Amino acid sequence: MQNAAILMDKMYRHQRHIYDLTRKPYLLGRDRLIESLAPPQNGAVLEIGCGTARNLICAARTYRSVHLYGIDVSPVMLAQARRSVDRARLGQRIALAQGDAASFDPQELFCRARFDRIFISYALSMIPPWQETLVHAFDLLAPDGSLHVVDFGDQAGMPMWFRKGLKGWLDLFDVVPCVEIARELKAETRARGLVLSHQALYRGYAFHAIARA
Ligand SMILES: C[S@@+](CC[C@H](N)C(=O)[O-])C[C@H]1O[C@@H](n2cnc3c(N)ncnc32)[C@H](O)[C@@H]1O
Repeated sequence: MQNAAILMDKMYRHQRHIYDLTRKPYLLGRDRLIESLAPPQNGAVLEIGCGTARNLICAARTYRSVHLYGIDVSPVMLAQARRSVDRARLGQRIALAQGDAASFDPQELFCRARFDRIFISYALSMIPPWQETLVHAFDLLAPDGSLHVVDFGDQAGMPMWFRKGLKGWLDLFDVVPCVEIARELKAETRARGLVLSHQALYRGYAFHAIARA
């Protein structure tokens, strides 16, 4: 976890101040993911790689009865997230903790072992052990739970000049859009007897996947 935390802190030390504003135009599909959560009354919702808590705050305002949990490896992002949660007066409903996506222990961090909804928004493409992260997320689902993922897609419908430009931009942030993610999601979903809905968004710019019972 130490290496990932140092790397992410270095990347976000200054950017965290402008993160929410600058990511709005290109981290597409996040609101759609939040709409798809539809958690049960008083349910528990976890975001892995929660960044500034932008999504958690939005989900808390949409689903008023649920409790929300966020983990991130970067202490500087978590500090920003705590500020935002406090400003939104949602400290009673949103708990945050530092953890590595692939191995955190929610029982230790939040005194809770399972979640009704788990989501991962534009974080898998930044996490080298993304496969382990996916498996871990599936393991933490409550029996009727669902896992929701939004991330960069295969860009299949985009012109070549756009794909090249986007790749150059994403390289600056060590983001590797990975078509394997969708494949792994499908395999893991099937192995666990769940059903996957997978949707390409904006001509393949992004994808939104939901694995549920
Ligand atoms: C592109 S940001 C997305 C933040 C947020 N999910 C959103 O949609 O705005 C990716 C986040 O993943 C976090 N992250 C990267 N590697 C991680 C790891 N190994 N474990 C947990 N979080 C990680 C980063 O610190 C960063 O906050």
